[in-house]
Amino acid sequence: MKSTSNASFSEGLAQRKGDHIELTSRAQTSALGVDPRFNYEPLFFTHASPEDNWECTFLNHKLHMPIWVSSMTGGTGHARTINHNLARLCGAHKLGMGLGSCRALISGHDRLEDFQVRALMGDQPLFANLGMAQLEELVLAGKLHLVHEMVKKVEATGLIIHLNPLQEWFQPEGDRYKISPLITLSRFLEDVNYPVIVKEVGQGMGPRSLKALLELPISAIEFGAFGGTNFSLLESLRGSSEEVKKPFIQVGHTAEEMVEILNSLPIGRQEFIISGGVKSVLDGYELKMKFKAPSVIGMASGFLAPALMSYEALETYYLNLKESWLTAKGVLNLKGEN
Ligand SMILES: Cc1cc2nc3c(=O)[nH]c(=O)nc-3n(C[C@H](O)[C@H](O)[C@H](O)COP(=O)(O)O)c2cc1C
Repeated sequence: MKSTSNASFSEGLAQRKGDHIELTSRAQTSALGVDPRFNYEPLFFTHASPEDNWECTFLNHKLHMPIWVSSMTGGTGHARTINHNLARLCGAHKLGMGLGSCRALISGHDRLEDFQVRALMGDQPLFANLGMAQLEELVLAGKLHLVHEMVKKVEATGLIIHLNPLQEWFQPEGDRYKISPLITLSRFLEDVNYPVIVKEVGQGMGPRSLKALLELPISAIEFGAFGGTNFSLLESLRGSSEEVKKPFIQVGHTAEEMVEILNSLPIGRQEFIISGGVKSVLDGYELKMKFKAPSVIGMASGFLAPALMSYEALETYYLNLKESWLTAKGVLNLKGEN
């Protein structure tokens, strides 16, 4: 028995060594290609085991990793699968999640099951979601109780309000803001007793908006920065927008720029979800390390395809992501820091 396994070990070793020789010519890097952002410190590294976590808190909730599942509406049919798979992941692996727009629940109960995921999440942070235009309508109509009831219906920890003026403008059927979102928000916040997060949906926000948000009694800001999924582009791909609007697709602020802006502003008690175009673990890790305020990293589109496939596909995707995050944390430091 032993000699067979010794023989297969030797065969495996010989195969590996053969591969090394064969692949060497294709495995050449250029010094110019080095990632200049990090110091690589192998001397202090141990590989992560599946039980390892990067524990942190977000809005008084314990997370096993500083990773947030950003809000996504699923559309009829898909919504239930997506939300249930994502919530199950967050419950099992102690993450936090924003639901996609719960607008449908303001007017009825038909889609309630799509959003009823609290049982899968346990006590993890789960945020309901509503667009600024819908909030404005309810503020103007004096019907804010409908928002509070919606948050209660889905047993959410609080509410995310998404600011999406360009998306609304690109959509022929889109809503129009009649009063400034700052006024809408200020009026809404007078009437709220649960945590509120404000986010963009892919264009980010500039310094004036961020500064004004920091002065409001909101709990967190989610970037929804430029550089990833872009709803102005998405609406224009639906074939619905005129040529003259198209340059607006390119406006906005990247997550990197938003970190720089926020690092120069006085931050009170708010926390942050760095999101929008965080495509690689190293980009996310760099942003988190650069940002002085408490933050988690949010991703939407990255989770979408595996969440649509199956829970198992989603969990495998997440476990790979987590291992990469822990590897980055263990072996890389930002240059200029110890
Ligand atoms: C399919 C899909 C649906 C989305 N629906 C919502 C939504 O209902 N509410 C919201 O606040 N953001 C929504 N978003 C925006 C995301 O939360 C996020 O801000 C944006 O996709 C940028 O992140 P990403 O580059 O990681 O995808 C959606 C994104 C996707 C991909």
